[in-house]
Amino acid sequence: MRLFFALVPDEALRLALGERARALAAALGGRAVPAHNVHLTLAFLGEVERARVPALHDILDAMPRDGFALALDCVGEWPRAGVAWIAPRIVPAPLAVLHAALAAALRVQGFAVEARPFHPHITLVRRPSRRLADAPADRLTWRVGRLSLMRTDTAGGAVRYREDAVVTLA
Ligand code: 2AM
Repeated sequence: MRLFFALVPDEALRLALGERARALAAALGGRAVPAHNVHLTLAFLGEVERARVPALHDILDAMPRDGFALALDCVGEWPRAGVAWIAPRIVPAPLAVLHAALAAALRVQGFAVEARPFHPHITLVRRPSRRLADAPADRLTWRVGRLSLMRTDTAGGAVRYREDAVVTLA
C-alpha cells in the first residue's frame, strides 16, 4: 500500500482550494488538483507492507491532538518537482511540533523518513508549463482539525487519496 500522513481540510476549504487550483492551472498550464484530493503532506512513506500498517495506526493515535490555525498566504512553484502550491509563509509552532513528533515516532518504528527540511505546502497544480515566482496569495485561514493516515488509490487510472485512519485535533 502507498501511504502517507497528511492534514486534510474540511470540505468547504477543499472546495475553495480546488477553485484556486483551477485558476492557477488556467494561468500556468498543467493539471489542477481536484478538491477531493487536496491535502498537506506531513510524512511520506511510500510503499508499506500490510503487516506494518497497525504500527502506523498506533503512531497516529499517539500524536499530539492540538488543533491550530494555519494561514495559507503564499503561492509558488518548484520547477524540479513540477508542482505549483499554496503554503503558509510562516510555519506555526504547533505544525512544526506535530511534524517533528510524527517524524520521531516513525523513526523509532524503523520507517524511513524524509531528512530534508519540512516545507509544508498544498500542491494545487501538477506539471505547470509556465514558471511562477513565490508571491503573496489571498489568505485562506485553515482551522486544522484532523490528522490522517492516507492511502494512494490508483484503481481505475485516476489517483485518489483516501483517508485510511483519522484523529481529531481540537
Ligand atoms: P507533492 O504534492 O508535493 O507532490 C502523496 O503522493 C503525497 O506525498 C503528495 O502530497 C506528494 O507531495 C508527497 N510525496 C510524493 N512523493 C514524495 C517523496 N518522495 N517525498 C516526499 N513527499 C512525497
